[in-house]
This record gives sequence, C-alpha cells and structure tokens, in this order.
Amino acid sequence: MKLFASSTLLGAALLALPTLPAADAPAQLRLQIDLTAPGKAISRDLVGAFFEDLNYAADGGLYAELLQNRSFEYSATEQPTWGPHTGWDLVKNAGGDGHLGLGDARPLHENNPHYLILTVLEPGEGVGFANKGFDQLPVEEGRRYEASFWAYQAYMGIMWKEADQTKPMPVTVQLQAKDGAVLAEARLEVGGRVWTQYRAVLTPTRCDPEARFVLLAHAQGALALDMVSLFPRDTFKGRANGLRRDLAQTIADIRPKFMRFPGGCLVHGPGVHRYYNWKDTVGPVERRRAQRNLWGYHQTFGLGYFEFFQFCEDIGAKPLPVVSAGVCCQHAGHSPSRGQEGLPLDEMPAYIQDILDLIEWANGPATSKWGAVRAAAGHPAPFGLKYLGVGNEDAITPAFKERFRMIFDALKAKHPEIVVVGTSGPFHSGEDYDNGWAFVRELGVPMDDEHYYVPPQWFWDNLSRYERYDRAGAKVYVGEYAAHDQPKDRNTLRSALAEAAGLVSFERNGDIVQFASYAPLLARRGHTQWHPDLIYFSATAVHPTINYEVQKLFGNNAGDTLLPAQLEGVPAGTRLTSSVVRDSATGDVIVKVVNGEARAFTATVSLTGPATAKHRLTATVLTGATADGTNIDGQPPVAIPVVDESAVGTSFTREFPAHSLTILRLR
Ligand code: AHR
Repeated sequence: MKLFASSTLLGAALLALPTLPAADAPAQLRLQIDLTAPGKAISRDLVGAFFEDLNYAADGGLYAELLQNRSFEYSATEQPTWGPHTGWDLVKNAGGDGHLGLGDARPLHENNPHYLILTVLEPGEGVGFANKGFDQLPVEEGRRYEASFWAYQAYMGIMWKEADQTKPMPVTVQLQAKDGAVLAEARLEVGGRVWTQYRAVLTPTRCDPEARFVLLAHAQGALALDMVSLFPRDTFKGRANGLRRDLAQTIADIRPKFMRFPGGCLVHGPGVHRYYNWKDTVGPVERRRAQRNLWGYHQTFGLGYFEFFQFCEDIGAKPLPVVSAGVCCQHAGHSPSRGQEGLPLDEMPAYIQDILDLIEWANGPATSKWGAVRAAAGHPAPFGLKYLGVGNEDAITPAFKERFRMIFDALKAKHPEIVVVGTSGPFHSGEDYDNGWAFVRELGVPMDDEHYYVPPQWFWDNLSRYERYDRAGAKVYVGEYAAHDQPKDRNTLRSALAEAAGLVSFERNGDIVQFASYAPLLARRGHTQWHPDLIYFSATAVHPTINYEVQKLFGNNAGDTLLPAQLEGVPAGTRLTSSVVRDSATGDVIVKVVNGEARAFTATVSLTGPATAKHRLTATVLTGATADGTNIDGQPPVAIPVVDESAVGTSFTREFPAHSLTILRLR
C-alpha cells in the first residue's frame, strides 16, 4: 500500500518553481506576495513546548523547592552514594550535642515512608541540621521564603528522666550566609505527638548565592521531622507549590501553544510496572509517592499533574499529557537485551481505568470522584483537556499493538472528544516509523507523534518531507526534534538555523503538521544527561541558547493562513527557504526567511492587493558572525534578535544576511 498520497493542489503549486540558475550564478531573488490570496488554513498552534524531567528539569529545576531531599527518600537505588540523609548535615552549635537518625515506624503517609529523627542530648546553642539546596542555595535580600516542615515530638524513653518530654520543643529556622551570619530567623514551638505542619516566612537581610537553611532545636528531647521545605513566595504567578519564576517565564516567552509532558522515555519507565503513574503525582505533596527517575536521580513529583496543568493554563498552552501504551521501553533498564514487555493483560482494564480517570480528573465536574481531587487542589473548573498522547517511541510489536488498541478503543468509546496522539518510533524513518504510521492509519488515530534528532543538513535536505504526507490521514505532531551539530554538546547557530528551516517547512505544511516541539527543553548545568538542550540553567541564572531564540521567534510570529508566496531565483542546492503567513487575529502578514549560507542574499519583495500603498514593517534578524557560534554562559550572546521598524511601499528590497533568520512583520 502507498504510504502517502500526493500533496494538495496548493502544495503542488508551491512546488512548481521556475527553472533555477546554477549555484554560482548571481542570485536575483524575488518574493511576490499577493495580499488578497485566500491561502491555505494552517495550524495556529504549531510551536509548543515539550517538558520532560531529565537533566534535573523538575526537582532542582522548574519546581521552585530549594531544599534537596526534603522528605528523606533518597536511596542508593537512585545513586550509589545516596541515602535518606543525603543533603542534610548535623549542626551542633556551641555546647550542643545530639544526632540524626531515621524513622519509618510512624510515617507521615504510607507513600512517604521515611522521616528524620533529631535527638538533642545537650541543647547548647542549638542542635539541628542544615541543607544547602541543589549544589547551592541562593537567597535574595528582601525576598520572602516560606520555610515549612512536618513534625511531632518523639518519645525518648524513660531513661531520659531529666528531659521534660511534655513541654513543646523550642525550634528556630534560619537562613544562614556562607560565612555563618544569620540572614533571617523565625522561632516556633513543636509540641504534641501527632504529625503537624509548621510554617514561617524568612526574609533575608542580604543576598547570598551560597546560603544554607538551618533548623535548630533548643531543649533536650527528640523530634520526628519530614517534608522540610523552603520555597520562594514569589513563584511564577505566585502559585503555591509553584514554579521557579525565571525559568517559567523563559518558557512562557516562547508563547508555546501547547505543552507535552511528562516525557519522553520518562512515561513508559524502566520496567513494566514502573511507568509514570499520574495518580502518584496529585493531591497533597506529602502524600505523593516519590520514585527513582528513569534518568538516574530522584523525582519527588512535587511538580505533578496539577502543577503541569496549572502551568499550561498560566501560559495559554494546551495541555498534552502522554501516558504509557501499556508497555515499557524496549531499552528498559538501559539493558538492550531485556526488551519491551507488556503489562499483563489482566491488568489492562485497571490501567485503562486510570487513563479514563485522568480525563475525569482534568475535565470532569467538581462533583465527580476525580474532578473533586482537582477541585480540592484549588481548581474547581475543568482544565479543558483535548489531546492525549499514548506511548512514546515504542517498538511497534504485537504486544504494543494489542495494548494500544485496547486503550484507543476505550478512549474512542468513552471520550470521543479527546484527540489521541499515537507514536511511530524514535526515528524519522525505518521499521518502527513505517509500522507506527501503518498502525495509526489502520486504527484511524487522529494524530501521530514522530521524533528526530539529526545533523543540521538533514533539515535542509528534507524541506519537502511533509509535502508527501496524506492530507486525508492523521495530523502530524513533531513531538521531539533537534539539529545535533558536532561536537554534540554545542548549540550552534548552524543548528538553530537548521531548526528554523525545519519550522518553515512545518509551517508550509501546517495543514497537516499540527504541533512541533524542540527537545529537550531544560538542562541544569552539572546535572545534564542529554545534549544539546534548549535552555540551560544553574541555581542563579538562565542561559537560553540560540536555538531558544528561534523557538521564541516562531512562537511569537505564528499565523493561521499560509500565503502562496515563495522566494524565486534561489540557486539550486542553496540553504535558503521561506514561508509567508497571515495572522487573522491581527491581519499582519509575516515573512520568514532562513539563510543557512555563508553569504548574504538580496530579494525584491512585491506586495499586491488592495490598500497596499504603505505598510509598517517590523524586521527581526537573528544572525551571528559564524555558523559555529554558540552562546557561552555569562558572556554576551553571540546571536540575538535585532529589531528595526520602518515604512515600506508595495515594493522594497531586503538583504538576508549570511547565517540568518529574518522575520518581516507587515502591518
Ligand atoms: O528528549 C530526550 C529523549 O529522547 C526522550 O525521553 C525520548 O523520547 C527520546 O528518545
């Protein structure tokens, strides 16, 4: 059977180029734009974000919690040197003596089995513990931080006659500078034998990028403590249990129209029963079941489904959660020999019910069982979930197909309003790609997710890829893509422009390419498992790449109609491509030109149609001195968009510099 039918008539018209001059002939480029042309309707949601918790993207990243290992659940199964006390140091101030232990007999919640026991033998000037955050704990002068912890007074036994175990324990919580100076302090009293939450707001008197959080007890006795936390009050949009403001804003600035989460490989997990279970990630944070992250660290699920949906709403992005297709990764446990395994078939009905419950949680009334869980978290109105991914890069085996079909049939029967997104392997072609697409067509899955991490030249060589896709078939979601230049950890201008060329080709085929998201999104310096990434960060700074600038320019210059205009006279084999779209919300016409060559080109741009006498033109140019250029942390960016405004008539000339993306916005 033929995989793809021929392109639409308009697509065919776009392909009908005039005869091209040889590559070394002087280029006389023309771009004719008919402003009255009806054009082709394209996706208005093309550019989105894909968030996966790898590279410390969640804990130690977007999630604003500042303390590491707040619930004492780190374990050697995550990293060999880790244990429940990782990140915590015993503090004994002058004259003090005591120790830190571990409890599991009376947990705060069964999902959160371990807690700390602080025993004070001699209080001196305070005995307690300290935490320095993820690598470092930056605090800012005048900023408010909420310290909180759960605790009860542990019984020390009858041996401890001299300790009055009926009196509350006086406690101080502090932010200390690296030199030990106290920057902020609050006093509390911990009493009683039941788990109780304590809170205090700390406002440092000066900045310190390497502060520490300290909790001290001041009387003989013992405390059980769990969920010891420090949160900035001014999270993104001020949300409780919210997100790191600078990172969230950097993502929001892309203006992503959708966000896919929580993965990636994280979704199907490193074993058949170790998939990402959304139910473990909602409800009060102290009841969420933390687990080893597939990428080799610890995930608290403090950033869980509620926080993902809330973030989507806050930035105007459609949520696109992905669930496992009932199979684990074919490379499970990073052991290629183990292969893909399916959930036992008798477990599938319960698993499918979990997926149906997710839809009720997101969209059901606050009176429904799962809608009530959402409402209890502070969001009584439905989130309006429309898209749901099933599977990620799975091998298209009989086990996969059987389980995917069961899930798809149940969703179709119970929730025909949900657009299911299928999967077609990890590559742009090959066995899983072919079989994935064939299966999507067989079942009538409305959208398919394809991934490719490829050299920059691949994007230039595949500009017409989507012209061959069947317009009557499933829509395309390019769920993960990136140009991998050499060496692999460098985000070069060359790679960014190749992705821009790819985005132009998606836009030109925006009648079939519905969504596209670069991957991966976030990476913490020093904790990065995958290169390159879109946005690097440390405890104190955000380092956007040139590739990020491309995503932002496309996200902020989206259209919903493709106009039939094309650069004419482009020498054969030249890395130069363009698209012209109209944004019906503003009426603006937006021209995008990507020049991947080491020389500039000049084009005559002609506008035809009514009322074309004068236009305001906003030109944004992203370029740099060499294609190898890359932004270096803490140094001025090598390529940054430069904007200029002018007025133009019905015809004007424009230079497209070497190694550049130009966006012309005509009002
Ligand atoms: O984006 C990083 C990883 O690449 C994703 O987890 C996976 O889907 C892909 O292989």
